[in-house]
Amino acid sequence: MKETLSYQAYLKSPYKSIKHSTYFAVYDDLFARYRGKEITFVEIGVLGGGSLFMWREFLGPKARIIGIDLNPNAKKWEAEGFDIFIGSQSDKQFWQDFVKKVGKVDVVLDDGGHTYEQQIITTEMLLDSINDQGMLVVEDTHTSYMDGFGSRRYSFIEYVKCLIDKMNQRFSELNTTASDRRVWSIQTYESFVAFHIRRSASDLVSESTDNGGTDDAAMDYRYFDHDAVKSIDGLARKFNFLKYIPGARWLGAKAKNYVIVQKSKRKLKKYFSSDS
Ligand SMILES: C[S@@+](CC[C@H](N)C(=O)[O-])C[C@H]1O[C@@H](n2cnc3c(N)ncnc32)[C@H](O)[C@@H]1O
Repeated sequence: MKETLSYQAYLKSPYKSIKHSTYFAVYDDLFARYRGKEITFVEIGVLGGGSLFMWREFLGPKARIIGIDLNPNAKKWEAEGFDIFIGSQSDKQFWQDFVKKVGKVDVVLDDGGHTYEQQIITTEMLLDSINDQGMLVVEDTHTSYMDGFGSRRYSFIEYVKCLIDKMNQRFSELNTTASDRRVWSIQTYESFVAFHIRRSASDLVSESTDNGGTDDAAMDYRYFDHDAVKSIDGLARKFNFLKYIPGARWLGAKAKNYVIVQKSKRKLKKYFSSDS
């Protein structure tokens, strides 16, 4: 912790800020790339102003730092050169007005109220307003496992899992209408989720490519360590002539899938229990 640049900046802030020891490595990992750059950095949750000064120290004088809080007292930090917006992060209209006024930003760090509603509405309202190579980072995501922040069924982490599913729907062989192209990559840490924006990558149409090299006709050994599937494949080769019977291929594929599913269920179940 002590060796991180963000921790050094935290110590230099003249005003109080309270942060967990594990957070500084995450800040360095995500935000070091923006140091010394002319970026717009938005922090939701100002409280005593300590973190605004920390970010100025960490990012350097070229960064425009915007603080957002529901508490109107936060407005006083404008006298120190920060831009302050007063409003609720769970209010869609607040975000529409904010985006109209500020335009696209590079980084958003959500350290606001930490309820699922606040985290999800903020993410939904801002994902399209982050510049390319930018990111939206939600802090204190452990509230998804705690009481007092909303319905756990609709927790922020459950929402993130849903977004991961939608991101993967971009793959060519799936590509359903449920796919989502707003985020290129979702990175998780203890207590943090970072949504990385790179539109040239997330807008790219997924399709199979071929490098044009010589085809060695190599065999795929995916199920060669699976006796039951190997036997089914052996039978399929033996009774290949049956493939002309209507439904025979379909039945073969179903049988193969059934044994694959049963074996993987037995072997993998333990990894899906929260106490494994
Ligand atoms: C955890 S504190 C921020 C701490 C500060 N970032 C730091 O590191 O020192 C959370 C802040 O979020 C603000 N907040 C709570 N609910 C909010 C909402 N709905 N919209 C905007 N700000 C909110 C609170 O007023 C409080 O100042």
